[in-house]
Amino acid sequence: MSKIKVLPDSLANKIAAGEVVERPASVVKELLENALDAGARSINIEVEEGGKRLIRIVDDGEGMTRDDAIIAFERHATSKLRTTDDLEAITTLGFRGEALPSIASVSRLFLRTKTPRDNEGTEVEFSGGKLVAVRDIAWPGGAEVEVRDLFFNIPARRKFLKSDATESVHIANLVQHYALANPQLSFLLVGNGRDVIRVAPARSLKERAYQVLGGALLDKLVEVNAEAEGLRILGFVSNPQEQRSSRDAQYLFINRRFVRDQ
Ligand SMILES: Nc1ncnc2c1ncn2[C@@H]1O[C@H](COP(=O)(O)OP(=O)(O)OP(=O)(O)O)[C@@H](O)[C@H]1O
Ligand SMILES: [Mg+2]
Repeated sequence: MSKIKVLPDSLANKIAAGEVVERPASVVKELLENALDAGARSINIEVEEGGKRLIRIVDDGEGMTRDDAIIAFERHATSKLRTTDDLEAITTLGFRGEALPSIASVSRLFLRTKTPRDNEGTEVEFSGGKLVAVRDIAWPGGAEVEVRDLFFNIPARRKFLKSDATESVHIANLVQHYALANPQLSFLLVGNGRDVIRVAPARSLKERAYQVLGGALLDKLVEVNAEAEGLRILGFVSNPQEQRSSRDAQYLFINRRFVRDQ
């Protein structure tokens, strides 16, 4: 008898979730990136108890058909990559087709969505990676992903999450990063019913930085705007007199992707 067995999908997804979903902020990151890839202009995020109890992200992007809304939860199912050559020219934030099945395998998840071409919307419900129901619903368009009770089926992972306050800070920092990287979009983050971040579409990076970081900080910064050899660098740097003990206030984005590197 052969000792090697191919893992069932539900188990493979749970293992993959270990890499994709470290904490509530990782869920917010994946869902935010999906909303951005879907061409959303406006993204609303609601969290309760540091995202452990609830994470809900609503976007006004292109949405999904009923068939796509179901297949999106298959592993390696993506609309963003077709051939090996595409890998060299990725223009989206996602491309692995891992995020939704991973998140669905460690939570109770609802997806509600509709494309502009469809009359009816679709609701897909998962629990611990199992498809519970697919329903027709009235839905205006775009997509909403609701993630409840993260890690409810992996108590050991749930136990190692930090306090609600700490997890909330991670989420707020993340949304701040994406808001800075996408000045033209509006973002709303509500935590336990209170507005944490609320920014309307801005005309420039400067205006967005003003909204997010405040005028007192921005006034001390020097604008950088340079272009050469196909590269464009845009942003703000501080004067040498400005001293900080940590790198927390350094925000670096490459092609709208947040990068943290020593
Ligand atoms: N908010 C959304 N609006 C429209 N389509 C979406 C949305 N979220 C996901 N999708 C669709 O579902 C597919 C699967 O999403 P998922 O996040 O699992 O994979 P991905 O974004 O392609 O890759 P990655 O795993 O790197 O994030 C996407 O390729 C996209 O077509
Ligand atoms: Mg994705």
